Amino acid sequence: MAINIKQLLAGARGENYDLHEKHVNPRFVKTLNTIGFDKCYTRAEGQYLWDINGQRYLDMLAGYGVFNVGRNNPEIRQTLIDFMEADYPSLVQLDAPLLSGLLAKELKQRMPNDLDYVYFTNSGTEGVETAIKFARCATKRSGIIHAKKSFHGLSNGSLSINGDETFREGFGPLLPDCVQVPFGDIEALEKALSRNDIAAFIVEPIQGKGVNIPPAGYLKQAQELCHLHKTLFIVDEIQSGMGRTGKFLAIEHENDIDPDMVILSKSLSGGFIPVGAVLTRKWIYNKVFSSMDRSVVHSSTFGQGNLAMAAGLASLDYIDEHKLMENATAMGNLLGNQLSELKDSYEFIKDIRWRGLMLAIEFGSPKSLKLKAAWALAHKLNKSLFPQAVTIPLLQDHNVLTQVAGHNVDIIKLIPPLMIDKTDVDYFVSSFKAVMESLHKFPGPCWEVISRIGKSSFPNSPDINHTFPTESNV
Ligand SMILES: Cc1ncc(COP(=O)(O)O)c(C=O)c1O
Repeated sequence: MAINIKQLLAGARGENYDLHEKHVNPRFVKTLNTIGFDKCYTRAEGQYLWDINGQRYLDMLAGYGVFNVGRNNPEIRQTLIDFMEADYPSLVQLDAPLLSGLLAKELKQRMPNDLDYVYFTNSGTEGVETAIKFARCATKRSGIIHAKKSFHGLSNGSLSINGDETFREGFGPLLPDCVQVPFGDIEALEKALSRNDIAAFIVEPIQGKGVNIPPAGYLKQAQELCHLHKTLFIVDEIQSGMGRTGKFLAIEHENDIDPDMVILSKSLSGGFIPVGAVLTRKWIYNKVFSSMDRSVVHSSTFGQGNLAMAAGLASLDYIDEHKLMENATAMGNLLGNQLSELKDSYEFIKDIRWRGLMLAIEFGSPKSLKLKAAWALAHKLNKSLFPQAVTIPLLQDHNVLTQVAGHNVDIIKLIPPLMIDKTDVDYFVSSFKAVMESLHKFPGPCWEVISRIGKSSFPNSPDINHTFPTESNV
């Protein structure tokens, strides 16, 4: 007799954090508890989540960007149910599965350039590992260039090209010959490439950590330089792809981008099943899988799992049928423009930048003396604290889920499901406005948040809210 999953969920309702404290990750439980993100979500649909008390939340995080088609997408779910009911064989391994062939064909059709073969993975980082291996094997070089602030995953190879020391610390030694260059700096890239021992430059067209958009023309120039130095130009579209920015790939915002490899993951299966894909050129493929003996020299057991492939086909179809890319452009512009209009009213807002529904709100030091002092104190406590004073009240007071876009940044990131509508945009903007109003009052409830987190993370820190700055102590 199978377990009754509904009964199991109901019986253990609300035990999430106790279970995780005992069996999974108590430190993360403490973090969530400290910032008040310790909710028990029990239902999800499209761009919304519901908690155990029946409260609805607007999800502007989309599971780190895996739900471009929305949570529990009914059409993709139906495809999966239909497939499971068909008793179709999966993971035979010594065969050529039909669904991965069909998905590979569909993915190739969506590329802006000619890429010949698709290697399927189970995650983003596995796609990046694949790209590193393929690049080294194809070029017979070892060097990999990556950008400062890059994020390509956390397994060893991907971590070696992570542009944030916080993630790398304690895990070395990592891969040798990895070179870091500032993102968007073409001269630095040229210098690094001139060593002529670089297999690949792996780059996110828009960086997920911080939503950093490169200067116009950067990707094209980078590609030309790479090809001049016989280095592969590889784009990590794991977060920015699948329609997120209003185009299937973010590289399509520039003309004539012709990458040697494209790495996808996250939303490819609509968030139901882990999946990833690396699209590559024939000559690269031929170097790796160079003989019958080596025809599976790079592979993984679950790599072409039929459920992931079926969900992938259904997701691609859903994005097209429901015009999600068009909606991402329209809603991204609406949201971006409405938020930009707030810049004049709230001095903490430094920059709003976006492509489709990948949007950053960056904060900066305000002008008025009192707020400037409060800002400085918050940053003295911890460089990542200030944006928490935005994300926490957004969740606590307005039921909007957002995230801080990395370590030591004053940026929050919005990557909602691509079907958000005007009502959601208006709701987000009015919620954000209310939080800004509160943050511009010092002392006030938002500053209490900073003080409380500062105190629990750094017990000897001053109490910001009661260290009322006057002109004399500024
Ligand atoms: C641009 C980018 N590359 C790679 C990854 C790693 O993907 P995964 O977490 O599936 O390993 C991520 C995940 O956030 C990402 O945003």
